Order: sequence, then C-alpha cells, then structure tokens
Amino acid sequence: MLDAKRGLVLRAPGPNGFVRDLDMARSSTPLHPAHADLESILVTEQAIKRRTRRLGTEIHETYGDEEITVIAIINGALLFTADLLRAISNPVRLDCIRISSYRNETRSLGRPQLLHSLTLDVTNRHVLLIDDILDTGKTLSMVVDLIHQLNPASIKTCVLLDKKGRREVPFDADFVGFEIPDKFVVGYGLDFAERYRNLPCIGVLKPHLQNPPEWA
Ligand code: IMP
Ligand code: MG
Repeated sequence: MLDAKRGLVLRAPGPNGFVRDLDMARSSTPLHPAHADLESILVTEQAIKRRTRRLGTEIHETYGDEEITVIAIINGALLFTADLLRAISNPVRLDCIRISSYRNETRSLGRPQLLHSLTLDVTNRHVLLIDDILDTGKTLSMVVDLIHQLNPASIKTCVLLDKKGRREVPFDADFVGFEIPDKFVVGYGLDFAERYRNLPCIGVLKPHLQNPPEWA
C-alpha cells in the first residue's frame, strides 16, 4: 500500500523475522513502481542478498572444492541463480531446463510440462538443481526423476522459497532460502502471467490483481 507521507506501508510480518529489514529496505532501495501492486513484502532485497551469500557458503561447505553442474529451472530461477552462482566459489557448469506449470493462474495446473531439456551431459556429475520456489513439489520431483535417469554422480536441490504447507508430493530441498506461508508471491524471478519478475524483493500480490480476466 502506498502512503503519501510514509512511502510504502509494509504489513504482514511473516515468520522467521522477515520484517526485520523493512526500515533498511525503505531507506536504501528506491521504490520500484510495481511495489504498488503488492499488499505486503515477505522478503526484502537485503534479506535475499544476505541469505544468498550464506547459501553460497553452505553449498561450498557441502561440496568441498568439487565441480558442480548447476541446473536452473527457468524462467523462475533466473535471478536467484544469477546471484547464487556468484556466491559459490566452486568450479561450476551451468545449464537450464524450462518447465511450465502455472500459465496465467495462481494455482498449479496439474502436471508440470517439460518445454526445453538440458544441453550439458550430466553423467557422473554433481548436479545442483535450482528453483525459485517449492510449492506442491510436483516440478522438482519430476525434474529430479528426469535427471536421475541420466546417471549423475549426485543430485541436490536448492530453492529460494519453500511453501512447506502446500506439498502434494513429499519433497524436501537440500538448501532452502526462506520458508514462507501459503500466499501467492511475485518478484525476484517469480511471476504472475510473466509480470513482476523484475521486482527486487518478494511480495504478495494484491488479491484483485490475481487472475484478472483481461490477462487470461
Ligand atoms: P510446484 O511444482 O507446485 O512445486 O511449483 C513450482 C513452480 O510453481 C515454481 O517453479 C514456480 O514457477 C511456480 N510457483 C509456485 N508458487 C508460486 C508463487 O507463489 N508465485 C509464483 N510462482 C509460483
Ligand atoms: Mg518455476
């Protein structure tokens, strides 16, 4: 919500102290125009940066100095992967896999579809799969099954966000940025109908902007 005197009014303090950084966010981040479409911010730009650096360290500690083949699930994981890669000091190979699950809805439409597969050979490689958010678990479990068939040395998964309460397929990621409540979120790579990916923070879209008929 925009308030003329105070700028953006941030509500909904989530779990894990998400709101700790909000004052800092207000003072150091110029307001992105799309902020006006958010009812609240769940994870600030500063919190994402800090957690991403920490995840990079955790990943390095897990793999030692081994080379990692990072596979980003695009488009959603684009921004997170770009920042996380720079926080990982291991040698890294990068590939992308394109999966579609949402189209223009805020609820997943049954089975995820593989739209574009890998170009790198992952046989005997340590694969680290990266996605923006773990929701029902269908996308990651499908991609893990798919990569498993290619005989990698290992498969691990890393997600920026985890909506634990929404799981339909049992799945735990090896590295998790933030656990969030069951809200439809956008920003930092996450979209609604391909919009809002360029927001620097993660926020909840105002309800009246979800599934508007003119976007269908
Ligand atoms: P899952 O297959 O239900 O786990 O969904 C994973 C995919 O759904 C993610 O890669 C996202 O692209 C998308 N997704 C799930 N929740 C959200 C959300 O709140 N906002 C935007 N995209 C989401
Ligand atoms: Mg996705």
